[in-house]
Amino acid sequence: MSSIATLIENISTGAAGRTCAPELAHEPWTFDLGVPGYGPGASMGDVLPAASARRGALPERYQAMAPAELDERIRAAKAALGSRVVVLGHFYQRDEIVRHADFLGDSYQLARAAQTVPEAEAIVFCGVHFMAETAHILARPGQDVILPNLAAGCSMADMADLDSVLECWESLAALYGTEPDEHGRVPVVPVTYMNSSAALKGFCGEHGGVVCTSSNAQTVLEEAFERGQRVLFFPDQHLGRNTAKRMGVPLERMPMWNPRKPLGGNDRQALLDARVVLWHGFCSVHKRFTVEQVQRARAAHPGVRVLVHPECPMAVVDAADETGSTDRIRTIVAEATEPTTFAIGTEINMVNRLVAQFPQHRILCLDDVICPCSTMYRIHPGYLAWVLEELVEGRAVNRITVDEGVAQHARVALDRMLAAKPRA
Ligand code: 13P
Ligand code: SF4
Repeated sequence: MSSIATLIENISTGAAGRTCAPELAHEPWTFDLGVPGYGPGASMGDVLPAASARRGALPERYQAMAPAELDERIRAAKAALGSRVVVLGHFYQRDEIVRHADFLGDSYQLARAAQTVPEAEAIVFCGVHFMAETAHILARPGQDVILPNLAAGCSMADMADLDSVLECWESLAALYGTEPDEHGRVPVVPVTYMNSSAALKGFCGEHGGVVCTSSNAQTVLEEAFERGQRVLFFPDQHLGRNTAKRMGVPLERMPMWNPRKPLGGNDRQALLDARVVLWHGFCSVHKRFTVEQVQRARAAHPGVRVLVHPECPMAVVDAADETGSTDRIRTIVAEATEPTTFAIGTEINMVNRLVAQFPQHRILCLDDVICPCSTMYRIHPGYLAWVLEELVEGRAVNRITVDEGVAQHARVALDRMLAAKPRA
């Protein structure tokens, strides 16, 4: 089974198949130099906000190395460092990175993993910026957290910035007041998806709020509704809508907050009636999945099980058989006892890996266009070799740090999430 990087390279030289951006065949450092935005791929249409992390300056000698040499250097550096370093990899990383990860997981599992390695001097996080920030918040003081390529952001996370959320918060406070009701429930509890900046996690910690991931969003919302009359959910409208809908919240009680419009583009009554105010954010990768793709999969493969990530639009989630986090999707496939056809709506590197790991099943991506998360894809073996060899030399490059003033509040919101238990 070829990796996604190999498939994209082959497509660019004329082999069969389609990719959303043939430029993905170029190495990521090509786009670090002067190309605005996030570079090619699913999130290429999104604009890189001024405040987000900037390019990693990969030394030229690493740019020139062949894949086999990079692979060997990564192995050698890891062997030299031993337990002084731990490499965490998200499911969406390329195979060429995943093979070096000590832990592979979804964003919840990796946040947990970051807490289990106090002996390591450095955590090298092969994922995106918000994940590395979370690792730093949860890691032992003094541990370095390294993001191999600083340009690996998340376009969805950048759709909610602290200033816009503060403005929204003030507008809601003016509308709802700040006093609890007769049941002691505050007017609104802020809930941020893990895919958000540390500043927003800190905001939630400071304002009675909590973090959630796609694997525990319902549990977190249930807990939030016990403490609050409403929830302000950011940045992903789809995860918020899909989760609240499953919990029985009617769509008309989930107005969307557009930060560019007065009152978020809503009238007062809609906000007064709201149970969940949804931020106008989305994932460019999961937005690509459509109901037509689900229908085509069902027509072509009778009996197919359609599994999608809850960042997909509501109509896609409704048309699917099951929805869940990346690890939930992996578990469903792993636990299927009979040979099954699965059509999966999530990032292509992960789907491709499932194809290789579970040959007893027929596994397809819902979208036949190869379109990885362009920011996850920025973690190329060249960057991993570089940061590991720098560690061998006693230098920690591309460190991600969160100011302790922010981190202490963010830790409160993360701890509330880690403590949340599913309701009976
Ligand atoms: P998980 O929380 O399922 O790992 O998803 C992270 C992510 O970025 C999905 O787009
Ligand atoms: Fe962000 Fe979407 Fe990429 Fe996940 S898949 S890191 S939400 S852009």
